[in-house]
Amino acid sequence: RKANRGAFSGRNAFIFAAIGSAVGLGNIWRFPYVAYSNGGGSFILPYIIALVTAGIPLLFLDYAIGHRYRGSAPLSFRRLHRMTEPLGWWQVMICFIIGIYYALILAWAIRYFLFSFTKEWGDDPATFFTETFTHSVPAEEATFGLDFVPGVAIPLILVWVGVIGVLIMGVQKGIARFSGIFMPILVVMFVILVIVALTLPGSGAGLDALFTPDWGALTDSSVWVAAYGQIFFSLSVAFGIMLTYSSYLKKDEDLTGSGLLVGFSNSSFEILAGIGVFAALGFMAQSTGQPIDEVAGGGIGLAFIAFPTIINQAPVGALIGVLFFGSLVFAGFTSMISIIEVIIAAIQDKLGLNRVPATLVVGVPMAVVSLLLFPTTTGMNLLDITDAFVNNFGIVAVALVATVTLSAGFGALPTLRNHLNRSSSFKVGRIWQMFVGGVAPIVLGYILINEIQRTVAEGYGGMPGWFVNVFGWGMVIALVVMAFLLTSIPWGERSNVHVLDSDGDLIPP
Ligand code: PHE
Ligand code: NA
Repeated sequence: RKANRGAFSGRNAFIFAAIGSAVGLGNIWRFPYVAYSNGGGSFILPYIIALVTAGIPLLFLDYAIGHRYRGSAPLSFRRLHRMTEPLGWWQVMICFIIGIYYALILAWAIRYFLFSFTKEWGDDPATFFTETFTHSVPAEEATFGLDFVPGVAIPLILVWVGVIGVLIMGVQKGIARFSGIFMPILVVMFVILVIVALTLPGSGAGLDALFTPDWGALTDSSVWVAAYGQIFFSLSVAFGIMLTYSSYLKKDEDLTGSGLLVGFSNSSFEILAGIGVFAALGFMAQSTGQPIDEVAGGGIGLAFIAFPTIINQAPVGALIGVLFFGSLVFAGFTSMISIIEVIIAAIQDKLGLNRVPATLVVGVPMAVVSLLLFPTTTGMNLLDITDAFVNNFGIVAVALVATVTLSAGFGALPTLRNHLNRSSSFKVGRIWQMFVGGVAPIVLGYILINEIQRTVAEGYGGMPGWFVNVFGWGMVIALVVMAFLLTSIPWGERSNVHVLDSDGDLIPP
């Protein structure tokens, strides 16, 4: 008997799960500061162009591969062509790395959600975050160490128990059900947060800062790179996620219609987050008397240092804290489960396992690695470097190799385009092939070369060279090596690796 794969009950289940994956920490803390530091109001132009020429076309590509070949990333690529299986494992390995550190941010957010009630961080949220809470060593002293921080380790254990618990329930009863509950709660919480933020004094100045266009920025190539980077990350394309989810959809589905809905929802949430975050930053600038560009520092600091400062000073601070950190937790959790699902699906297909053993075989070792590496005094440095390298190099490289291989290498795009058009409401034309096989590789290649040159010249974040070599470059190279090793493992007895008929349709097991 062949092992059973999961399935979504229908289109809505799929859409909730896909939006749950797309809407994540990238929308809430990444988009606002990327937009702000790349031209503000004028960023909308490169952003929309990136969405239309690369984001949506690659989203369709992921959907087409997963839905046509009805498998996890490695199985789908394998069915597409024997030679392309390593591409699938490469995506699986990327998800492995992201999964082990993404859990850390979720663990922090859970603690900060609780801290919001009592404003545990006191008068100096910056010192609290780096010293009292995470006990972080500075970047220059980044090292490999096992100095555990119990206040982080305990919520991290909870995160892993929750993630494994949901995933063990399966595609429909776990992933789709929880996304269907969490996403509406997230939207309600976030809309209230934005409304509260807009009523704070100084919020208008924050919005001005975010939306005032700087048209000159459009001639700067780094602004375009930032726009494409944000779109790739935010839509979760080329991670194997959308590919895996669409493999759980029934046969005749409106793929492109769903894709447009997911893309539109994700971008809407991003703009909403920009408004909420900058309204709050405007308030913070006014009440601390600092200029707005000083309080709008991006990244982790925005969530875990700037927001506590805002919460300290705002009239309804605790409410803002609960809504903001609650949103981070809900948005992050559904993204986290989508990342781990890529790996579970791959192992399940390769070894022919059922749901429960596959979830445990993947989830438990990942939890152990995550718990050994990240709730430590050097955990923040590890998070920083793995996040930067896996996104700037791993994802960009796999997307580049995949688009070139599928278009020029195996001429797979016409087949995939027909597949998309078979049951979809929105038909894609030749232009889709041009975007996927032309625009995307050019932009990705440009980003990759630029980033490599810059990082080789400047190092990374002031961290020691050996640390960057091991956890940055070494890690990225290890992913590719692992992809080939995993490809070489034979497919299990119960995996239905080759069952496609002459039309490329799957013969039901
Ligand atoms: N798309 C998610 C976001 O915007 C991030 C993410 C990346 C989620 C990769 C899953 C996998 O936050
Ligand atoms: Na997103």
